[in-house]
Amino acid sequence: MIQRYRNRDHPAWDRAIGIEGAASIDYLLGQEADRGRGLGSAAIAAFTDDVFAAYPDVAVVVAAPQQANAASWRALERAGFARVWEGLLDSDDPADAGPAYVYARPRPLP
Ligand SMILES: CC(C)(COP(=O)(O)OP(=O)(O)OC[C@H]1O[C@@H](n2cnc3c(N)ncnc32)[C@H](O)[C@@H]1OP(=O)(O)O)[C@@H](O)C(=O)NCCC(=O)NCCS
Repeated sequence: MIQRYRNRDHPAWDRAIGIEGAASIDYLLGQEADRGRGLGSAAIAAFTDDVFAAYPDVAVVVAAPQQANAASWRALERAGFARVWEGLLDSDDPADAGPAYVYARPRPLP
């Protein structure tokens, strides 16, 4: 599962992330046996390219993994994202409860 959305369509999340012109992605590999084989990194990289193609107004793609979820943030790093923030997100979602990182990949230059 992988999904995308413009942050401005979700004002509370947009405020929590605080990056203008951003779209967020969320992802998971449903079968545990599929994890740790490079699929997540490849999917995130390809999907991020597709977000930029589909949403010409989006300047940067972001994701906010928990700091404890090394597989998630390392997959982001392998997909070309850089860590831009760390701390506790102002979010009501229990999935965001612990210390988090924000990762970002800006739109590539033409
Ligand atoms: C997060 C997820 C999508 C990553 O996809 P993946 O295919 O498992 O990751 P990859 O095989 O592409 O590996 C990416 C990096 O994470 C590392 N990694 C993989 N599993 C790991 C684990 N359990 N602990 C620590 N690092 C791990 C890999 O070694 C690799 O890092 P490297 O380049 O430094 O070697 C997948 O693990 C998953 O679905 N997890 C459960 C759901 C989830 O956490 N979703 C994200 C919520 S923010």
